[in-house]
Amino acid sequence: MSTERGQWGSRMGFVVAAIGSAIGLGNIWRFPYVAASNGGGAFLIPYLFALLTAGIPILILEFSVAHRIKKAAPGCFGKISKKMEVLGWAQTLISFSIVVYYMAIIGWTINYLSFSLSGAWGADTKSFFFNDFLHITDGPFAIGGLNTTMLIGLALVWVINFVVLNGGIKAGIEKANKIFMPLLIVCLLVITVRGLTLEGASAGLDYFFKPDFSVLGNPKVWLAAYGQIFFSLSIAFGIMITYASYLPEKTDIVNNAFLTGLGNCSFSILSGVAVFSVLGYMAAQQGVPVEEVSSAGVGLAFIVFPQAINALPGMNGIMGALFFICLLFAGLSSSMSILEVIVSSFVDKFNASRTKVLIIVTVSGFLVSLLFVTGAGLYILDIVDHFVNQYAITASGLVEIIFIAWFFNLEGVRKYANGMSDFAVGKWWNFTLKFMTPAILTVIFIFNAYTDFTKGYEGYPVSALVAFGGGTLLLIAVVSYILTGIKGSKEHEEDVMEGVEM
Ligand code: ALA
Repeated sequence: MSTERGQWGSRMGFVVAAIGSAIGLGNIWRFPYVAASNGGGAFLIPYLFALLTAGIPILILEFSVAHRIKKAAPGCFGKISKKMEVLGWAQTLISFSIVVYYMAIIGWTINYLSFSLSGAWGADTKSFFFNDFLHITDGPFAIGGLNTTMLIGLALVWVINFVVLNGGIKAGIEKANKIFMPLLIVCLLVITVRGLTLEGASAGLDYFFKPDFSVLGNPKVWLAAYGQIFFSLSIAFGIMITYASYLPEKTDIVNNAFLTGLGNCSFSILSGVAVFSVLGYMAAQQGVPVEEVSSAGVGLAFIVFPQAINALPGMNGIMGALFFICLLFAGLSSSMSILEVIVSSFVDKFNASRTKVLIIVTVSGFLVSLLFVTGAGLYILDIVDHFVNQYAITASGLVEIIFIAWFFNLEGVRKYANGMSDFAVGKWWNFTLKFMTPAILTVIFIFNAYTDFTKGYEGYPVSALVAFGGGTLLLIAVVSYILTGIKGSKEHEEDVMEGVEM
């Protein structure tokens, strides 16, 4: 069964792909800002704490269950308890709702890669991004037209993902990651070294690392750390389950989880050094504090960084290109993992041809993602990203952990993981999963809901939040139930009915 589904060529192949999935846009454009604005160096304490008490324990959990069952998320949860197949489909649909906008952002990085070489963004990078590039409209409901430049980038990204996934696990995903990841690290190192030799870099690093320990008493900082861990480690939306289901019989689960968690975390810190050394230089040139130029997300990548690149004393085009290559490789190695979740869920349940499923998922995904290359694309993307991250992933993580920790044999899972590993995890692992992580996720969920209900989100009209954010959540819920209700192939149904013991 496992070889028919595809398998990693080596343990390292799996680890590189898992790290490739974890390292994504979030590490480069989100982590540095979240860290700097939540206590700087002191943020590393809650961040590492969240990594050790939630991130790595959940990785061990997902790796173990998927390695034992060898199915994508719906089959995995369904085999533990038929009723829980719905959780696997919810995770698959969360992946679908993420991949459609994630592809659009990677498309923008391809566009910006070409702009960096020609310096097309000019002096006013903000106006260029919103007006000349996005053709942004007045609000989320003013869809505007399709934008050809963005469409080309988007189509290219879908084609690249299709080609890689069509190659299968070993010859496609593993091979691509083995090329992208080293290149990504080399490009980031070059930016870091260049950044560190710029005047003002130390002020940037000071801002990034300077610990403000007083923030440790603020619960928001701890919630930010946990929030960062889930999306960044690709947990609770099917990715690590899917990837681990392709592991060969003999592997080291605990070690793999630590390598993935720590590899992702080290890359985030390196990104912070690269980003803030360059921002420190730009702030020095403008004679303003680093805080004033610091930003996250789309703003950092497509407005502030181009501005910093303009300000560099030389090799502007090359440095710009290197930055967008980093985003591109980080993005692609994650997008292929998100897409694989959807493909493998359908292939497993319906025993369908991988290529046929891939074609259907790619075409439908591409059509939905067209929404994000319109004049309202950025607004819709922002709302969907917010709702999926704050509610869908948090809820999915919570249900997954409660289900396995309380209603399945958690101790059996721990023994299974330890049986496969050189060094064993102790009972602390059960404690974090049974009590700590569910409690923290519940608080995060309530806190997010309270904030959104009382303050709204980014000034968007409630109707837009309900339509695009609430609508996405509703679709995820309804379609997961429908897919759970549809009968799969005979082999799949029989296999799921057999159940599993650990
Ligand atoms: N883990 C991926 C990221 O951080 C999805 O972007």
